[in-house]
Amino acid sequence: MTDPDLVIRSADLSDIKYIMALEQGSIVHPWESKAIESLIVDKNKKCYVADLHGEVVGYVGAEIVLDECNIGNIVTHKDYRGRGFANEILTILLNILKRNGIAKVFLEVEHDNVPALSLYEKHGFVRYGQRRDYYGPGKDAVLMTKEL
Ligand SMILES: CC(C)(COP(=O)(O)OP(=O)(O)OC[C@H]1O[C@@H](n2cnc3c(N)ncnc32)[C@H](O)[C@@H]1OP(=O)(O)O)[C@@H](O)C(=O)NCCC(=O)NCCS
Repeated sequence: MTDPDLVIRSADLSDIKYIMALEQGSIVHPWESKAIESLIVDKNKKCYVADLHGEVVGYVGAEIVLDECNIGNIVTHKDYRGRGFANEILTILLNILKRNGIAKVFLEVEHDNVPALSLYEKHGFVRYGQRRDYYGPGKDAVLMTKEL
């Protein structure tokens, strides 16, 4: 069960340093601060953080084009994985997107990222293709989508 003290809220500019730390601790090619700032300030982008007692323990970033959305990344801090936090973040994001009239969501995930593939499948995402060497030699991307 998710921690009752976990709050999912819109990110603001003061969260950039925490989001960067999450990226650097988890992602091979972490986003730079300008890209994260754009997630927070651009009207067609969404960025939510998981806040536990004032600590940013997870985040999701997504971009909207017309009635479609692309999820760029979702990360839970290494020390807080397996506690349902990504589940909570994704549930809230998908609900907000649906309320905002988004019809379809897309994302890419590395072919051997078992936790992420499982998370997305659990939320009803289906595989519709694969991009060879997308993340580097031998590192294919699985393309996934979900209708809201
Ligand atoms: C993928 C990630 C966000 C999951 O975060 P998390 O907070 O640990 O996930 P949750 O505890 O909410 O688990 C939700 C679901 O994810 C899947 N999952 C999470 N950890 C898993 C693991 N180690 N092995 C298999 N499935 C796993 C399961 O389907 C799980 O549902 P369940 O608890 O009913 O089995 C986290 O592992 C992470 O930050 N990874 C590094 C960044 C990354 O790869 N992001 C995805 C980029 S596309």
